[in-house]
Amino acid sequence: MTRVGVGTVGKTQIPPMELPRYGAERLSGIRCIATQLKSEVPSDATLTAMALQRLDALVVLTLSGSGFERRGGGATGYVQEIYLAHLVPHPEVSWTVSPPLSLEVLSQQDFLELTESLEEEFRREYVAQQVSPDQDRVLLVGVLTSELTPQRFQDGLAEISRLVETAGGEVLQIVQQRRSRPHPQTVVGEGKVQEIALTAQTVGANLIVFDRDLSPAQVRNLEVRIGVRVVDRTEVILDIFAQRAQSGAGKLQVELAQLEYMMPRLTGRGRAMSRLGGGIGTRGPGETKLETERRAIQRRITRLQQEVNQLQAHRSRLRGQRQHQEVPSVAIVGYTNAGKSTLLNVLTNAEVYTADQLFATLDPTTRRLAIADPITHETLSIVLTDTVGFIHELPPSLMDAFRATLEEVTEADALLHVVDLSHPAWQSQIRSVMTILSDMPVTPGPILLAFNKIDQVDGDTLTLAQEEFPQAVFISAGDRLGLETLRQHLAQLVHYATSAS
Ligand code: GTP
Repeated sequence: MTRVGVGTVGKTQIPPMELPRYGAERLSGIRCIATQLKSEVPSDATLTAMALQRLDALVVLTLSGSGFERRGGGATGYVQEIYLAHLVPHPEVSWTVSPPLSLEVLSQQDFLELTESLEEEFRREYVAQQVSPDQDRVLLVGVLTSELTPQRFQDGLAEISRLVETAGGEVLQIVQQRRSRPHPQTVVGEGKVQEIALTAQTVGANLIVFDRDLSPAQVRNLEVRIGVRVVDRTEVILDIFAQRAQSGAGKLQVELAQLEYMMPRLTGRGRAMSRLGGGIGTRGPGETKLETERRAIQRRITRLQQEVNQLQAHRSRLRGQRQHQEVPSVAIVGYTNAGKSTLLNVLTNAEVYTADQLFATLDPTTRRLAIADPITHETLSIVLTDTVGFIHELPPSLMDAFRATLEEVTEADALLHVVDLSHPAWQSQIRSVMTILSDMPVTPGPILLAFNKIDQVDGDTLTLAQEEFPQAVFISAGDRLGLETLRQHLAQLVHYATSAS
C-alpha cells in the first residue's frame, strides 16, 4: 500500500497506535520516501518522526536547486542527493544516516534484508534489557503545575516512584514538564508527548505512569500518540491493593474499586478501538458488545456493593458486641509505611505482616492490649485495630470501596495517629491523614499523635516536632523506645474518650 502525505515528515506522521504493528522489538513495516528542496542532511525533526513511527527505513531525496522549476503547478527537478536513514538498537544513538548516495547504489539496497537484520538486533537488545519478563518497565512523567510547590512536586514524584516499585515495576527514567496547568487533551504539551514517545522507545519502556490522575480521554489521546500503555496514579494504587488483598473482604473491596474506576474508561477506550478498526461494519457490533459488557459490569458493581454493605453490617455487629462488653477501642491510623503494623506487633505481640512497602496491610487486624488505668490503677483492656494505610489524595473509588474497613476508624473510641518522623515529607503526610479523616462521614474521636522511627531522626527534626506538637509521644516501634510512655498516654486517651461519651 502507498500513502501520500503533503507536509513535512513530522507533520504527516501516523500515530503509533494506528500503525499496523508497533513494539520496541519490531519495526512498523513501513518505508518512507521524503523529498526536500534544501540540499542538507535530514533534520532531527525528520529523524525523530522516523523513530516515532518505527519506520523500516527513510529515504530522503534532495531536489536540486538549479534544475528546479515549476511547470503548470507541478514541481520537477533533478535528484541531487539521496540519504538513507534507519533506526539502530543502541542505548545512546537512536538512528544512523548514510553519506549521500547515488540512485544506483540505493536501487541495489535490499530493504527486506535490512529490515530483517535490524529486527533481529532489536529483538536481541530487547531480551537483554528485560530484567524479568513480568516486571513492567516504566517511564514516569511528572508535571509541575502552578498549584504545586517544587518541594511538593518532588515529594510526589518520589512517592509515585515508590508506588510503582511496590506494584512490581521498575522506573527506568523520569520525564518532567513545568506547565501552568495540565494540557486538557494530553496533560503535557505536544512536543513533550513526542519526547515521551521517543524516550519510551529508547529505554524500552512498556508502561507510562503519570504522577497524577488522568481523564479517560487523556489516557486515550496519550496512548494513541505514544503507542505504549498509559496509566495514572490511581491505577497504580489500585494495582497494589489488588496484589495485596488477602482476605475475601479485602478482595471484594478492591474488585469493587477497580470496577468503579474502570466503568467510565471502558466506554472511552471502546470508542478509540472502534475508530482504530475503522470503517463500515466495525462500529455497530463493536459498540453493542461494549454496551453488553458495560451492563454486565454495572450488574457486578451493584452485587459487590451489596456484599460490601453486608460486610459493613457484619463488622458493625462485631463492634456492637465489643461495645456491649464495654471494651474501649482504638484505631491506629497513619500514612502508608508509617509503622502501624510494627507498632501493633510490639504492643500486643501480634503477628501482623510488616514490610518496607506501601500498603503492606489491607485487612484490619484487631488485638487486645492490657494497660494500667492511670486513675484507678486497675488493668484496663482495650482493643487496638490496625487499618489500611492512608496516602495523599486517596482515590475516591477506594474510599468508597473500603468504607467497611474505614468504618473501623470512625467507630473507634479514639485514634492513634502514627507518623513516620524520619520521612522528609512527614508534615504533609500528617496533613493528608487529617484531610482524609475530616472527609469521613462520621467525625472520629480524639486523636493521639505518635511520632515513630525516632531512631532514624536527627536532633533538629525531633526538636521541631516536639515544639510543634507538644502533646505527642515520640517512639521507635522498631527499637522499642518510648513504648511505656505511649501506653500511659493511650490509657489517658481512652479514659478521656470513654468518660466523655
Ligand atoms: P502500611 O501497611 O503500608 O500502611 O504500613 P504500616 O504503617 O503498617 O508500616 P509497617 O509496620 O509495615 O512498617 C513499615 C516499615 O517501617 C517496615 O520496614 C518497618 O520495619 C519499618 N519501621 C517500623 N517502625 C520503625 C522504627 O521505629 N524505626 C525504623 N527505623 N523503622 C521502622
